[in-house]
Amino acid sequence: MFVMSIWGTSLSLSSRSLAIALVLCVTLLYISYSFNACLLASISRSLQQSNLRNLLSLTSTPRNESSSNSSSSNDSATPASNPSNNSSNTTNRSISSVPAAVGIANSSDGSPKYQLLRQPGLRPSRHLPDTLIIGVKKSGTRALLEFIRLHPDVRAAGSEVHFFDRHYQRGLRWYRHHMPYTIEGQITMEKTPSYFVTKEVPQRVYHMNTATKLLIVVRDPVTRAISDYTQAASKKADMKRFEQLAFVNGSYSVVDTNWGPVKIGVYSRYLERWLLYFPLSQLLFISGERLIMDPAYEIGRVQDFLGLKRVVTEKHFYFNATKGFPCLFKSEARSTPHCLGKTKGRNHPHIDPSAIERLREFYRPFNNKFYQLTGINFAWA
Ligand code: A3P
Repeated sequence: MFVMSIWGTSLSLSSRSLAIALVLCVTLLYISYSFNACLLASISRSLQQSNLRNLLSLTSTPRNESSSNSSSSNDSATPASNPSNNSSNTTNRSISSVPAAVGIANSSDGSPKYQLLRQPGLRPSRHLPDTLIIGVKKSGTRALLEFIRLHPDVRAAGSEVHFFDRHYQRGLRWYRHHMPYTIEGQITMEKTPSYFVTKEVPQRVYHMNTATKLLIVVRDPVTRAISDYTQAASKKADMKRFEQLAFVNGSYSVVDTNWGPVKIGVYSRYLERWLLYFPLSQLLFISGERLIMDPAYEIGRVQDFLGLKRVVTEKHFYFNATKGFPCLFKSEARSTPHCLGKTKGRNHPHIDPSAIERLREFYRPFNNKFYQLTGINFAWA
């Protein structure tokens, strides 16, 4: 009996502890289930966020790349230094990767949100020039190019390409490769001042594109000749005096019309050749004197002629008293001053006034002819 009661007691004790263990197990199971459920929810939340971040970074990257390309397009504009610019490939790659991102970023009606980036006009590419600065040497051609290329819709080759006079045999593909990258709506420009005086060039430009717009900066031919001479003398130590080179036989009676600096100033002769191929309406004459006195005025005319909004204005220019020439603010907002290099705006040597007077006399009939052809009186003395 006693044994039975002990057995019964121990049985009831072990079933109680069994029950307690069971309750403990269930509680533990419940806690671990709740913990796991929380963990899974948080993992899935962070996964969703990182997907969204990936998507955003995919859609925004090409924009950054395309803008950095446009700012570096000036580098690719320097043909000699960088003929096969790799940044172009990078850009093409990055832009062509956009449709994948577009596929993910569909708008509510199912159409891609960033359709704009697919338009071919926004893919930078090289084009033959629409506009050429054809001359005249030492009249302010570099100043004109530097001023007009401040316009965001103008892209210019950095150095003189000399395609139509020296490299014509290399073909238009070669020429195009030396042009900067542009997007739709931007003008491609090139400046080579020797085009104006090279016999074959008008016809060659015409064959490239009959609608090419031509910019010609002109300056008083006497000052231009002195400027041309000053440049040559800066490269040659033992150069003869200007007066010795500009006249035949040492006296001022006969002008040496075969001497380059004098010859180039007979503008009417060269202009007649251009007018055989291009109507006057496709030519714009810029006064070299006015480009110094009032650059904003001349650049305003150039922008109108090219069908551009007047973006480059007087706010972009200031007169640098040390240099004695107008210099640039690269943008209206950023007042970083920039003057042309030392080779532009040189001091001219003193020239005998009688020699100058004789040259003025020589040029007078040619100047009058030039005024007549252009319809502009440049009032050179
Ligand atoms: P000089 O150096 O004889 O003064 P180009 O660029 O066609 O070679 O012309 C050079 C001429 O541009 C210079 O000749 C200078 O007179 C003129 N020029 C016009 N605007 C200028 C500017 N803002 N800064 C320097 N030179 C300028």
